[in-house]
Amino acid sequence: MTDTAREEEYDGLEHGGRLAWVEAAFPHAPRPFLDLSTGINPDPYPFSPSPALFHRLPEPGSYAALEAAAARAYGVSDPRQVVAAPGSQLLIGLLPRLFSSPRTVAVLGPTYGEYRRVWERAGHRVREVAEDAALDGLAEDIVLLARPNNPTGRIAPAAALLELADRLAARGGLLIVDEAFADFTPGLSLAPLFPEAGLLLLRSFGKAYGLGGLRLGFAPAPPRLLLVSGGGRRNPAILAALTERLGLPVAPVETVGWDGDALEAQCFAFLAARVRRGLPLTFPSTTGAPAPLTGGRIITPGAAEAG
Ligand SMILES: Cc1ncc(COP(=O)(O)O)c(C=O)c1O
Repeated sequence: MTDTAREEEYDGLEHGGRLAWVEAAFPHAPRPFLDLSTGINPDPYPFSPSPALFHRLPEPGSYAALEAAAARAYGVSDPRQVVAAPGSQLLIGLLPRLFSSPRTVAVLGPTYGEYRRVWERAGHRVREVAEDAALDGLAEDIVLLARPNNPTGRIAPAAALLELADRLAARGGLLIVDEAFADFTPGLSLAPLFPEAGLLLLRSFGKAYGLGGLRLGFAPAPPRLLLVSGGGRRNPAILAALTERLGLPVAPVETVGWDGDALEAQCFAFLAARVRRGLPLTFPSTTGAPAPLTGGRIITPGAAEAG
């Protein structure tokens, strides 16, 4: 990529950092430059990773271990509710794509310019609302704010945010709270309140630990919808019982354009392949079976039973 293309990628949005650009613009200013333009801790967490770490691809369980460590650090009770990503910036850019139809978005500002840019670019209608406006008056589908806010440092009241998240969840909306700077104020984060329907948090690893170049961020985010395949999806009583038990909206997989019968057929083919190999189908941790057990019988149409 050329330097011009790189500049265009920013869409004219001025970011902090970019010291090389500032140094070139002010060649006669005294050195060294003290960069006050970012909230990155100037005193990084000391660590010396071994080169071997960068040599190999992560092991299959590495992401789960990373997310479990983040869940512990942030006080999220269920590690499955934490998603890791290469920097919270990447998540900020992906979130607008979760919504296939255009939504209305309220951004509490003045704030980090990226929010407006990425949501508008994805075709959503964005309105900037004063950061101290009454939250119960917001009619938008999505509400986005930073807590503490960048650059004002304002901390939106937690109780009003939780009420807002509930209201948004009830109409299929989402409250996104960017906690990129929350590590600097212990006890501030909303993460220990998870699972909280309608609330998604963003956490940046780079800021407080002074390791912005590591590119690591997390999103504590509860599942928003449980999709059901197989025959059970046609039984309203089963769907209602699942909603009641899990506290989550439940819907047949057809809602997102999949074929529930085809998925079930694939699932049974997978189980049959395991039976052929004498592998277990059920485990104490999944079904409460007393031990890992295999089961079922494979029937070949038109032939004698195969076993
Ligand atoms: C409010 C806010 N959120 C998120 C980010 C992105 O941080 P990172 O991608 O390093 O996690 C920034 C970066 O400056 C920021 O100011």
